[in-house]
Amino acid sequence: MEIIIRQDADAASHAAARVVARLVREKPNAVIGLATGSTPLMLYRELVRMHKDDGLDFGEISTFNLDEYVGLEKEHQQSYHSFMWENLFSQINIKPENVHIPDGMAADIPASCAVYEQAVIDAGGIDLQVLGIGSDGHIGFNEPTSSFASRTRIKTLTQQTVADNARFFDGDESKVPPPCITMGIGTIMDARMNLMLAFGEGKADAIAATVEGPVAAIMPASILQHHPSAKVFIDEPAASKLQLADYYRWVYDGKPEWQADA
Ligand code: PGA
Repeated sequence: MEIIIRQDADAASHAAARVVARLVREKPNAVIGLATGSTPLMLYRELVRMHKDDGLDFGEISTFNLDEYVGLEKEHQQSYHSFMWENLFSQINIKPENVHIPDGMAADIPASCAVYEQAVIDAGGIDLQVLGIGSDGHIGFNEPTSSFASRTRIKTLTQQTVADNARFFDGDESKVPPPCITMGIGTIMDARMNLMLAFGEGKADAIAATVEGPVAAIMPASILQHHPSAKVFIDEPAASKLQLADYYRWVYDGKPEWQADA
């Protein structure tokens, strides 16, 4: 794991955006896994800026989103379909047919999950997966005790995630659908690179456990310790409980120029 600590969320997001942009330039038909929530917003804003100002071209890029609520129509304001179109897709030149988001309204959810997994395979696998992390350590909606071998499937949110996400639903926990579809941890681990973002003190415990704790299903993100190419971009508050923070800073600051955005 590479831990990149930046002064604030903006600087960390910009550093992460440079990694995504480098992939898009080197592999114009790359397959990118995307996340929702507050955390990736600044990353998406920077990618939109790079598209508008620098001509970053998403014309042949394909995307797969991590998750979706079960029971929300695509048009629902809080569906992850709406989130992605509002915050990224409507502002870049991605082709709608290259966008993949789990269907929370599928009549046959297990069948639609199998189709989603096959679509990832048919696209050639995910080159780079963007991840947030839940305060309970989830990646995607793989809540604590999710199998490390899991594939896209239905899950039930923890009460903590329901409480965390109520802010998007007028602060009303009863409006947050507990069932969701999420890419599995096995699917996430198959991505060629994982790029995690985490900001704020509320993520400090989960980040410390993920990076420096034991690998255990109770802390799903800890499986990234076994990933050959995982980068964790965090701000100072999210880094505040890391034992080796000074080491991570020293490594990043000493990177040679040619490695800087790799
Ligand atoms: P957040 O969610 O970005 O809204 O904090 C992160 C997550 O649940 O993965």
